Amino acid sequence: MKSRDAKTRRTAPLETPNDLGSAASKDISAALNLLLADVFALYLKTKNFHWHVSGPHFRDYHLLLDEQADQIYATSDPIAERVRKLGGTTLRSIGQISRLQRVMDNEADYVTPLDMLAELREDNQQLAARMRQTHNVCDEHGDVATASLLEVWIDEAERRVWFLYETGRTPKE
Ligand SMILES: [Fe+2]
Repeated sequence: MKSRDAKTRRTAPLETPNDLGSAASKDISAALNLLLADVFALYLKTKNFHWHVSGPHFRDYHLLLDEQADQIYATSDPIAERVRKLGGTTLRSIGQISRLQRVMDNEADYVTPLDMLAELREDNQQLAARMRQTHNVCDEHGDVATASLLEVWIDEAERRVWFLYETGRTPKE
């Protein structure tokens, strides 16, 4: 009897009431959970480069990447909580992140500073594009609240792309 209670609790619905409907909850939650996995993966990659960057511009690059990592990390909680507000469930583990992430990890022993900047620029550009796709899903369901959050995060991602682009320019360009 006891184990049956535990099982019931495990399968108890976590559906938050929301008048956008179950299709909106399902579609937007799925898109946001993918985005959340990408955000965690990009956060860790940005920290990885922050920790391992080297060379004459160390201080500049090290600080820039820390600032960007903080900004990326700050989006994670609002994304997950949006999913819960919509009645969906969100990520529960690093394992789940690794199965869902579309951002590629970089576990190379050494990456040149300019390659780091170029790779992150590309990743952030893709993240902005995926946020725009998620925005389209929100529009289809009339979810203006998630759309409005995404608009801010798209602008932030585009700012990161701008900084990574300018910082990574070589003198000839
Ligand atoms: Fe640090």
